[in-house]
Formats: sequence, structure tokens, C-alpha cells
Amino acid sequence: MFKKKKENKNNKIDFDRLPRHIAFIMDGNGRWAKGKGKLRTYGHKIGADSLRIVIKHAQELGIKVVSFYAFSTENWNRPKDEVDEIFRIACNLIKSKKESMIKANIQLITSGDISKLPKELIGEIEDCIEKTKNNDGIVVNIAINYGSRSEILRAVNEIIKAGIKEVDEATFRKYLYTTNLPDPDLVVRTSGEQRLSNFLMFQNAYAELYFPKTYWPDFREKELEKAIIEFQNRDRRFGKIKG
Ligand code: IPE
Ligand code: IPE
Ligand code: MG
Repeated sequence: MFKKKKENKNNKIDFDRLPRHIAFIMDGNGRWAKGKGKLRTYGHKIGADSLRIVIKHAQELGIKVVSFYAFSTENWNRPKDEVDEIFRIACNLIKSKKESMIKANIQLITSGDISKLPKELIGEIEDCIEKTKNNDGIVVNIAINYGSRSEILRAVNEIIKAGIKEVDEATFRKYLYTTNLPDPDLVVRTSGEQRLSNFLMFQNAYAELYFPKTYWPDFREKELEKAIIEFQNRDRRFGKIKG
């Protein structure tokens, strides 16, 4: 009889089969705010609360790595006021949460070219990375000024500079921002859009993709749990025959 052995049917998280790494494309802040008759930036502000809540709950559930797409290389094409506000919110968030991240055993890392960000934000990011570098609880990877194409080209150029003539996958991975991270098992993009928008394209080659309709500012504990259960109902084959 055809039987889906691994299916998670009782709608409860199976803690023996958690995704190791969940990558979030935090989308829908603007539409969420517009729907409430507010400015787009209000959506980014409340979206930052979702980010905090999702990190905390992912840690409580036992997830080891979470990535968040906070600002893409393409997002520079937005109005300057909005870009500035996104960076200001990010800066305040790190500043106000640094101490609790240190205590909560959270390790912060980033993906992307942070050198192009405002000075104050670079300072906060670097300080937080340094102060949490020995933490071995959950890893929080913030993709900021990140794009897969530029990440891959950067890797290629670094490899050329290092004089390496031929690369295998393991070597190539060392030159990606995500060097030591396992690949995402699950990508969650909120707001109903069904695309990856240049997010971890190399690393997500075998990720399960989940596109809830919820806008990011409404994505909280219950939605995270739903995403994990959805993941556990997928049948990951990795090119093999179902077994
Ligand atoms: C995601 O929300 C946040 C960033 C891209 C920084 P959006 O700002 O893209 O919100 P929508 O998609 O316009 O609703
Ligand atoms: C993707 O969202 C980038 C982030 C969430 C930071 P966008 O809203 O920028 O993506 P597109 O433009 O709809 O593809
Ligand atoms: Mg969007």
C-alpha cells in the first residue's frame, strides 16, 4: 500500500524532524501598512517586532539557524526616505537588543556587503557580531544589502584573486557569505508572492518553499509553527526515489 511514512498528520510539530535552517523572506510590510491606512515605514517598524518574535520562538522550538532577508541589493531602488528608515529601524533594533542577544546565547552574522550601509549601522552590526561570536545557541543570519548574484560573483572574484585554478563545491561554498551554515531546509516567503527575489539562490537549491499569504508584520509564533508543520508534511527526495 502507498503510505506516506513521514507525513506529519496530527498538526503538531515533530521535534525529531525540525528543519535545521529556516530562511525567511520578510515580505508584505508595505501592503500591511497600506491596508491599515498607514505609511509603508510603519509596516517595517512592526515587521521588526515579527523578526524579534520569530527569532525567540524559533530558538524555543530548537531551530539551529534562521536567516532573514532584510534588504536586497535591488531595494536601493526604493525612495531614499524609505531606505533610510529601514536602516534606522535595523540600527535601533540591534542597539536595543544587543544585550539580550548576548544573554540569550544568540549568534549574529550577516550576509551581504555591509560596507555600503550607514556608518552607525555598520558599527552596531560589527559590535554585535563581535560580542555574540562565541555564542553557540541559535545562529541569526541577517541578509542586508544582499543579493545572490553579487554574492556568487564576489565568490568567483575572490577565488580568482586567491589564484585558485579549479574549484569544487566545498571550496566554492567557503567564499559565500554563509560559509559555515547548513543550507536552508525551508524558505518561507510571506505575503503570497511566489519568488525568491535573488535570495540564497545557491544555498536554496534543495530547499522546500512555502508561501503563506500572511503579511510579515502578522507573521508570529503560530505562523512559524504552521510553517514547520507544512515542512514536515513535504516529501524530500533529493533526486532519489521515494522510500
Ligand atoms: C518587505 O516588505 C521589506 C523589505 C523589502 C525591506 P515590502 O516593503 O517589500 O512590502 P510590500 O511587498 O511592498 O508590501
Ligand atoms: C524581497 O522583497 C527583499 C526583502 C524581503 C528584503 P521585495 O519586496 O523587495 O521583492 P520583490 O521586489 O517583490 O521581488
Ligand atoms: Mg515586497
